[in-house]
Amino acid sequence: MVAISSGASPLAAETGDDAWLGYTALDKEQASIYENLPSSVLTMGDSPVLKSAQQELAAGVKKMLGPTLHLDADVAQPSVGSQARHVRNPVGDSFVLGTLSELKTIVPKLKPAREPSGDGYWLKVLRINGHKCLVITAATDRGVLYGVFALLRKIALGEDISAVDEMQQPSAPLRWVDQWDNLDGRIERGYGGPSIYFADGKVRDDLGRAAEYARLLASIGVNGCAINNVNADPHILDDAFITSVSRIANVFRPWGVQIALAVDLSSPKTLGDLDTFDPIDQRVAAWWQKKVDTIYREIPDFGGFVMKADSEGRAGPSAYGRTQADAANVIARALKPHGGVLFYRAFVYNHHLDWRNLKNDRAKAAYDIFHPLDGSFDDNVIIQIKNGPIDFQVREPVSPLLAGLPHTNEAVELQITQEYTGQQRQLCFLVPMWAEVLNFDMRVNGNPSTVADLVAGRVFHRPAGGVVGVANVGMDPTWLGNSLALANLYGFGRLAWNPTLSAESIANQWTRLTFGSDPLIVQTITKLQLSSWTVYESYTGPLGVGTLTNITGNHYDPGPESSERNGWGQWHRADHEGIGMDRTVATGTGFIGQYPPDVAKIYESLATCPDNLLLFFHHVSYTHMLHSGITVIQYFYDSHYDGAERAHDFVSQWMELRGHVDQQRYSEILAMLNYQAGEAIVWRDTICQWIYELSGIPDQKGRMKAISGDYLR
Ligand code: GCU
Repeated sequence: MVAISSGASPLAAETGDDAWLGYTALDKEQASIYENLPSSVLTMGDSPVLKSAQQELAAGVKKMLGPTLHLDADVAQPSVGSQARHVRNPVGDSFVLGTLSELKTIVPKLKPAREPSGDGYWLKVLRINGHKCLVITAATDRGVLYGVFALLRKIALGEDISAVDEMQQPSAPLRWVDQWDNLDGRIERGYGGPSIYFADGKVRDDLGRAAEYARLLASIGVNGCAINNVNADPHILDDAFITSVSRIANVFRPWGVQIALAVDLSSPKTLGDLDTFDPIDQRVAAWWQKKVDTIYREIPDFGGFVMKADSEGRAGPSAYGRTQADAANVIARALKPHGGVLFYRAFVYNHHLDWRNLKNDRAKAAYDIFHPLDGSFDDNVIIQIKNGPIDFQVREPVSPLLAGLPHTNEAVELQITQEYTGQQRQLCFLVPMWAEVLNFDMRVNGNPSTVADLVAGRVFHRPAGGVVGVANVGMDPTWLGNSLALANLYGFGRLAWNPTLSAESIANQWTRLTFGSDPLIVQTITKLQLSSWTVYESYTGPLGVGTLTNITGNHYDPGPESSERNGWGQWHRADHEGIGMDRTVATGTGFIGQYPPDVAKIYESLATCPDNLLLFFHHVSYTHMLHSGITVIQYFYDSHYDGAERAHDFVSQWMELRGHVDQQRYSEILAMLNYQAGEAIVWRDTICQWIYELSGIPDQKGRMKAISGDYLR
């Protein structure tokens, strides 16, 4: 039985390093339900992952409840024959950590209704040898670690675990994050400080922060991390560099997070001494095999590669007239004997499109290129598909390619770093967006088929697949640049594990784990987070028009004209008459025809296309009437004014928390929200002015007059 002590001040200064793993001490009343928890831990095995599990459990219980658990680490018994056995029985009430096969050595009759597999775990109160035990078991040590984090989360959230019996299986087998870190320490689209891995072209000497990151990732069930930019520097594959990368793998290993590398297809030529990187050339295949063998000698549990090819100026198989499948397979075959996988990105498009041709459409590229290749990728290739067909805009429809690869593994790529959604200088909680994406029903063959089911391989019975998040954390104490943005990383992992969790429950949990359970804090932050995406959308890109940001520059400031008259294809086609891309089959680019028929039917017709995606799919006049009963132009004005007002209200909502949240985080977030309120006005006035000048139709509510007057003076 644990003796409960308690009492951390909720107002102690916090930097955010601990993220959601602060394990704040529970008060006496909250802690009282845990008085009967066991006071020792029996760990059945001694792998690094099990050791992390054991230490995390002890640290969490100590911080939240007070007592120091007695660590009764299992010792391998003398071997019988050639097999070392880990057989030991609890000598008192205990937490028991171990795989199911280990557990069965002491509880031979154990028969769970359903056995956990893969990364799944089972939390169960059992009597073993007459002692009350809280068992945390799984098929693998990593599953046990996930079970420990789940149990600690329950304690932090005050859930009753006295008779716990909970089995959890992750939705998809691969739940990875990508970091876009450059070897010089800068991070492409990173807003949380410099790289935690690299500085000045080398792996950092001190990898303490990387180890902390691996722990955070494990706590939300993330099992892989590609550590460098998809715009990959070939030197990542230098033999000497691989040796130093193995140091990163060493700090990730105890947390069950496999590391992976983004690689450049031209490496055999730029790095090796070949005069080609043609993927069907035998010398190129041999080069990749040798390189991969070297990596696995240094990093035996290496996860694999991420590849961006033929995209935004990257080398690709098109240089030799080969297909994306040729490029993927030559590398996948080198990884295969070692159990590695290749995430091959579907973000392949021509950024020199002729904008004068109204039939051209960047949104069609991924499907046009990859769908015809379906079935020609090896089974350790996973096609990594951005959630939308363009590029992480504030709202896009789901990429039709997700339903277009019945014979190929696939993963959906989400963006945790807020490139087009405020760059962590504005609040934008993206979990509601991702929940919509993952639960979107593609109606493959007219049957229910959510994106979550598709990427998990449940619809087409594929062996691998998953969810990838572009995280881009950095050295900033808050990891992502402000402490509220971290809810996106937390929510990513939780949703990747279980896409049916609601955004509200995730926001609520994250707030309680990060800021404590003061009801005012929980209510206020949850509400702010949940409204932030649609607020941001309302002043930066309503009605599915895409983010009206400066797309050729910083991807942040308003710059609606930058989308037009260039080859990048992020067109909104706004002119004096109307706005929006006609992507219909009937009169437009035909993009809508890439969706399964049930979905295509909804988008093709103005009568059924949802307002919030109208301008993504249709070009309409400014006076087109929305389902909501107002015109497109009036919606633009209203949306921008409402959005700016709601952003302004964020400030007063946050100010309610003065004296409740520690001063440091209070002031930092207040400064950010104040700034955001100003930025929302800049966006409002820029976009309203722009669309007024284009359309010549004034705001019915007269708000534009003041702006026009000011501008014209
Ligand atoms: C966006 C982003 C780039 C990134 C690219 C990608 O275009 O702006 O920085 O390289 O996506 O996902 O490959």
